[in-house]
Amino acid sequence: MPVLVAYASKHGATRQIAERIGEVLRASGLDAEVRPVRSAGDPAGYDAVVLGSAVYFGAWRREGTAYVRRHRGALSGRPVTRLVVRGNGSAPPAAEAMSSWRRARSPAATASPSPAGSCSASPPSSS
Ligand SMILES: Cc1cc2nc3c(=O)[nH]c(=O)nc-3n(C[C@H](O)[C@H](O)[C@H](O)COP(=O)(O)O)c2cc1C
Repeated sequence: MPVLVAYASKHGATRQIAERIGEVLRASGLDAEVRPVRSAGDPAGYDAVVLGSAVYFGAWRREGTAYVRRHRGALSGRPVTRLVVRGNGSAPPAAEAMSSWRRARSPAATASPSPAGSCSASPPSSS
């Protein structure tokens, strides 16, 4: 079962998290490929997708939302887990930061902020 882990990262934190997710998925016996969104290609060739972005100024990285818009159809047809990588407790809540995702594709994600920077993921959704 091929799984795509695609990420949008500026300084590398999201990339490291995506690579770790890929390692864990492979250790679970899944065929996971980890790619930056710019070279991730069409998600139609995968059974499931983990799609993550760092948050800058309250929004996903532009290439992350562009990927969602470009592949909206394929993403709608398969389970997608959304990943939000963000800053510290003074930053806007992660759910608020997901507004850029919501503009590109609904529905809203769930999120759990933590005081020292956080990484949160929604449950997989195939709608
Ligand atoms: C200029 C700048 C703006 C940021 N804006 C936000 C923000 O609005 N909300 C947030 O939660 N984190 C914000 N962060 C924190 C980043 O989301 C966090 O450092 C993240 O781990 C960066 O991921 P990356 O290393 O993959 O680029 C900001 C960081 C920088 C440097």
